[in-house]
Amino acid sequence: MKVVGGSASVPLALGIARELSAAYVDVAFEKHPGGFPDGERYVRLLGSVAGEHVVLVQTTYPDPKLVEFFLLADAIRDEGARRLTAVVPYFGYGRQDKRFLDGEAVSAKTIAKHIAVDCDELLSATIHNPDIFSMLSIRTREVSGIPALGRYLEAADVDMLLAPDGNAIRLVKEAASIAGKPFDHFDKKRIDSYTVTMAHKELAVKRKSVAIVDDVISTGGTIATATRELKSQGARRVVAACVHGLFVDKAEANLKVCDEIVSTDTVISPHTKVSVAPEFADAIRALG
Ligand code: R5P
Repeated sequence: MKVVGGSASVPLALGIARELSAAYVDVAFEKHPGGFPDGERYVRLLGSVAGEHVVLVQTTYPDPKLVEFFLLADAIRDEGARRLTAVVPYFGYGRQDKRFLDGEAVSAKTIAKHIAVDCDELLSATIHNPDIFSMLSIRTREVSGIPALGRYLEAADVDMLLAPDGNAIRLVKEAASIAGKPFDHFDKKRIDSYTVTMAHKELAVKRKSVAIVDDVISTGGTIATATRELKSQGARRVVAACVHGLFVDKAEANLKVCDEIVSTDTVISPHTKVSVAPEFADAIRALG
């Protein structure tokens, strides 16, 4: 088995290779120093993959990383790999999982369909809607990104965990059982992509340290609104914990209200503190 990492996911790919005791194949991402002037991506495998079972690790966000995924998958096939397992730690476009308005693309389906062209298996972490993979003829697996956060929160200065909305309750429940700490939830209402409100709900958080756990932090609006509510109820400390830390737009400014931010390595950022490599390695072993 050999592991190849796209430029969005090199640290995680190296971690998965270590967990599996597999060789890592380096990739050159720039033909010319500074890359193509028009911004087009370039990849070149720097080791042989002929006859190998190859694990390609690449988050498909933002868009240039998606293009890189396709270039790498095609190059791996051209070089004669016998089997290709795609590990897409964060599945970009996953939130457009249905046709909300007539004429829209179901983007999650579009991306999944094209990933399946070169790959025999597709693994991804904490997907917005895993059902989008059900139309694929290749094997697919959802891997939970929550255990990595649960392990971190077990050792952290945190008294309880909180889901910002009903959708995140199953995630918080899983994290709380690993961290060995109690949990509760708020009820979020989304007004638009940038605005959310929290229904008022009294929680026993006075002088407590609370970790808000969510699948994705995008603009940080959800976490910032929940944090303000917790602090107004007397929480002494709030930790923002997510699997996929996108931190777009004014997220950093919005999240200044939090005392700590932690995210996994599905998307690499300055807040990446924990790795999902053990969970992906287990899932790859289980494929047989
Ligand atoms: C929503 O369904 C997700 O679980 C997250 O709560 C949401 O994507 C977070 O977005 P933002 O950081 O922009 O509030």
